[in-house]
Amino acid sequence: MTTTTPANAELRKRVEKLRSLPSSPAVLQPLLDLLRRPPDEIELSQVVQLVSYEKTITAQLLRIANSPLYARARPAESIQSAIFTLGIQRIEDILLSNCFSNLVPRDKWVVDPAVFWRHSFGCALVCREFAERIDYYDPDKAYLAGLLHDLGIIVNSLAYTDEYRTVLAEALRSGRPLEEQEKQTLGFTHCESGVILGKTWQLPEAICEVIEWHHDIEHAPPTNLLIALVHLGDLLCRLRGLGYGYEEWRAIDLAADPAWPELARHCPKLANIDLARFTLDLDAFVVRITKLVDTIFSPALALTG
Ligand SMILES: [Fe+2]
Ligand SMILES: [Fe+2]
Repeated sequence: MTTTTPANAELRKRVEKLRSLPSSPAVLQPLLDLLRRPPDEIELSQVVQLVSYEKTITAQLLRIANSPLYARARPAESIQSAIFTLGIQRIEDILLSNCFSNLVPRDKWVVDPAVFWRHSFGCALVCREFAERIDYYDPDKAYLAGLLHDLGIIVNSLAYTDEYRTVLAEALRSGRPLEEQEKQTLGFTHCESGVILGKTWQLPEAICEVIEWHHDIEHAPPTNLLIALVHLGDLLCRLRGLGYGYEEWRAIDLAADPAWPELARHCPKLANIDLARFTLDLDAFVVRITKLVDTIFSPALALTG
């Protein structure tokens, strides 16, 4: 576990201030509860109730449901028809992105929010697909872990806005992986800051572990396979241009990564995956995710701040 040093005591103090942010996401806990249920047990009324937590969400859902992305014959005019068009999964994506977007005032986003969500949705979708292909028992949990793994980037933007701008500028210049640049400039990574907020928000323990260890697979708790899964999903996304908005100068060899044998030990099906084919399939995801995120973050919908 993390040892306490002056640097991370200071980090904890700053991150804990985030608890008092007025816009803590009211929708988050009910949404996580809903995500834990099997899809066939979710009722439309529960989703409508969730949507009502966020004041701006109704107009946003209607706008997205009526966008060319969904090509409806007749425009959706009610929240119910928008939900039918988009599907429960998409509503969950939009609610989550919305509640985090509202959490970060416009002038505090250091990483472009569209870049951040492209990476997070990308990783979520890749992790679910990956989980299904290797028969991991809970693909939806893999999706959630992928979606939330970089919560610490939001924390760093909020708690260390100016320093984080330096981190990003330096990473852009050097092509260094973001987590290495954070360690060098700030003395900690988004994993260390993210887990503090994850615990404060009482996210499930397995998700907190993913947030904390996804870039340090060799020290991760060996019982939580989600960490290896998200670690690989994150690398796959970065390989396919769904990273943090800049080119990282490093070679990524997934099959040589320590997470690969770790996962293969528990999911024997992994040995049969055609990795070249799988990474090619990701291109289809890239197009889909980019379109979706562009729709959510189109200029018609200003982020609150
Ligand atoms: Fe990360
Ligand atoms: Fe990531």
